[in-house]
Formats: sequence, structure tokens, C-alpha cells
Amino acid sequence: MICGRVDRYIVLCDKSPRLTRPPIPRILLNNVSCMRNAQQILRHVNVSVHDGGALVLTGANGSGKTTFLRMLAGFSRPSAGEILWNGHDITQSGIFHQYKLQLGWVSLKDAIKDKFTVLENIQWFEVLEGKQGRSIPALELMGLARLAKEKARMLSMGQRKRLQLARLLAIDRPIWLLDEPSVALDDEGVKLLEFIIAEHRKKGGIVLVATHLPLQIEDAMYLRLPPRFPRRMTLVDMLDRGDWA
Ligand SMILES: Nc1ncnc2c1ncn2[C@@H]1O[C@H](COP(=O)(O)OP(=O)(O)OP(=O)(O)O)[C@@H](O)[C@H]1O
Ligand SMILES: [Mg+2]
Repeated sequence: MICGRVDRYIVLCDKSPRLTRPPIPRILLNNVSCMRNAQQILRHVNVSVHDGGALVLTGANGSGKTTFLRMLAGFSRPSAGEILWNGHDITQSGIFHQYKLQLGWVSLKDAIKDKFTVLENIQWFEVLEGKQGRSIPALELMGLARLAKEKARMLSMGQRKRLQLARLLAIDRPIWLLDEPSVALDDEGVKLLEFIIAEHRKKGGIVLVATHLPLQIEDAMYLRLPPRFPRRMTLVDMLDRGDWA
């Protein structure tokens, strides 16, 4: 499975044109496979992503989208192949230490502390990050400013997702790994998500997103993971085939 782009730059010098090597991709998956629970989930995946790039992962339930993102986040290792960041293998401990500081992560496990206020839920991460002053603007952008002093347990599902996205903005890391980020968002929330992704990419940020719902992401690469187990034929399929005619 190959997904990526090939860039070739021609530099004119005073004598003759010469080909220079293209810049190395910020993230490169080289023939990567991944096992989980002794089963092969991903097979021979090749992907390259440059600064400002976006990769959208699609595929049936259980096809391995979350596994793909977890592997990039370092929660599991490839069983074969390599994942390179700036040309270095992320599984090397010295490299991983730097690489993980590049990552912003949104998943269905939202890591929101119900007893903290909405604002504290972001500021806590901001302090850990050694940053300050971004929490309130991020809450404002995500439409949560008026709830800043409420306990997080008061939030609806969509508001919790907005809080996760506000945290992503406040922490401001270059590589976003987003697992189903639009789930529970209303139409305006989806538009905001698309907006912050576009703005992040304009600054050179990278977005890797797994989604079942369509998202407007300009010039994104798409990687559709094949279903792991062929779906059993249902009654509807049989009717479509005319078996019952
Ligand atoms: N913790 C785990 N241990 C072992 N196997 C797992 C674990 N989590 C998921 N799997 C298996 O890995 C496969 C891929 O799961 P994954 O969650 O990556 O799929 P997905 O494409 O994200 O699915 P969905 O669209 O439902 O989110 C599934 O067959 C699943 O059963
Ligand atoms: Mg998933």
C-alpha cells in the first residue's frame, strides 16, 4: 500500500541545471506492519508526509485506523518496517523523547478531569507544556469561553470534544493525531475543526486524522485501510444480488 507524494526540485546554477535531492518527509512510514494481540492489523503501509501535509485514514470498523494512530503516537511498535521522523527511527529512545514532544493527540478517550473546571482542564496541560496565555483564546475560538468556570462534568459530548480541540490549540504542537475528531460535533463544530486544521497546516503543521465522517481538508492524502475480515453476506446483499428473485 503506497500513499504519499514525490517532490522533485530543479535548481538552476550558473552552468547547467542539476537535480537536487527532494527534502526528506517530516514523517515517513516505510513498509510498516503492525500486530495487535498476535494478529496482523496493518500490512506494508508506505506513507510520507511533509510539513503542512494532511493524511486522512478511512476504512471499516476494525480496519486499523486507531492502531495506525496509536503506532504513530508510540503506544505500539511496528512489527516490521520503520517509522521515521526527520529521517530518524522513532523507536530509538533518544529520538522518541524528542518526537513525542511534537505530538498533539485527540481520541475518544478524552482525558478530561470532571472535577476540574473547563479552563483548568486546559491550563493544567499548558503548565506541563511550559506555555501560558493560550487557554482562554482557545476556549473562545471553540465557543466554550462562557463555560470556562464550570466543572467539566457539566459538559455535553460535543462540548467535551470542543474542549479537547481547545486543548490541542493551547498546547500547540506541530503533529496532530486525531482519532474521530468530528464525532459529537454539531455542524458549526465541524466547520471549526476544519478551520483549525487548515490554520494549523498553514503554519507548517501536520495532521493525521482517522474519520468515518467526511471532513473538508484541502489537498489531503487519503489512505483507505482494507477491511481485516471480509464482511459476512447479509440479507440485504443477497437481495441486491437477486439470490431471492
Ligand atoms: N487493545 C487491543 N488489543 C488487541 N486487539 C485490539 C485492541 N484494540 C483493537 N484491537 C483490534 O485491532 C483491530 C483494529 O482496531 P482499530 O481500533 O485500530 O480499528 P479502527 O479502524 O480504528 O476501527 P473503528 O472504525 O471502529 O474505530 C480490530 O480488529 C480490533 O479488534
Ligand atoms: Mg478507531
